[in-house]
Amino acid sequence: MSVKIIRTKDYDEMSLRVAELLAAEIRAKEAPVLGLATGSTPVGAYCKLIEWNKAGELDFSGVTTVNLDEYKGLDGDNDQSYRYFMNTNLFDHVNIDKTRTHVPDGTIEDPEQACREYDEIIAATGGVDIQLLGMGHNGHIAFNEPSDAFSEGTCCVRLTESTIEANKRFFDSADQVPRYAYTMGIGSIMAARKIVIAVSGSDKAEAVKKAFTGPVTPWVPASILQEHPDCTLVADEAALSLL
Ligand code: GLP
Repeated sequence: MSVKIIRTKDYDEMSLRVAELLAAEIRAKEAPVLGLATGSTPVGAYCKLIEWNKAGELDFSGVTTVNLDEYKGLDGDNDQSYRYFMNTNLFDHVNIDKTRTHVPDGTIEDPEQACREYDEIIAATGGVDIQLLGMGHNGHIAFNEPSDAFSEGTCCVRLTESTIEANKRFFDSADQVPRYAYTMGIGSIMAARKIVIAVSGSDKAEAVKKAFTGPVTPWVPASILQEHPDCTLVADEAALSLL
């Protein structure tokens, strides 16, 4: 299966295209299940969704969400947690029932329990209709870092130095970035009926090239998307510059 590519001029157009794909899914289903992502990349798309919701054009009352990942050790009130990010960047501003928004629970100490519980939550939704992804500079999706095998269900991962380095901008210093995270597995991500991966900026161009024109390998986790039956890459010219 080949990945569809939507090429945009810049970040703003990328955000609009991504938001349109999510909105189409929300409008098409009575009880849509959205898989959502954090990071800087999806923020613009979330702004668009909020705008349409406020204008009365997009209703979130039937929507369920499952997020990709969370830092281990952070609770939802911590402003660096992904739960906090989702609340402040989307959920607090739309008419969504917060009890139907799911993010892995970073406060659960026991990784086995945390992962099992999150897999049960995902299963109980009946499956993700559309999964939004960003991508790390090393080709990671969610927090699935390069490794010698693709993960299946939710797992606890040790973040690589490059991810800690990239994400330290949200913390006071690199020391404060948690070393472990809970993340949806590659198997769970691939089980989504549709996938949209958003990428912006020339700093991701090399990763885009490897992921979408190179071999499918767990050393470039996003490369697995080449095997998904309905995956769309929405990327700006800068991110596609090496393709
Ligand atoms: C983090 C997240 C990923 C995200 C990536 C890229 O590591 N776990 O889900 O895709 O960062 O983030 P950004 O969009 O800020 O470049």
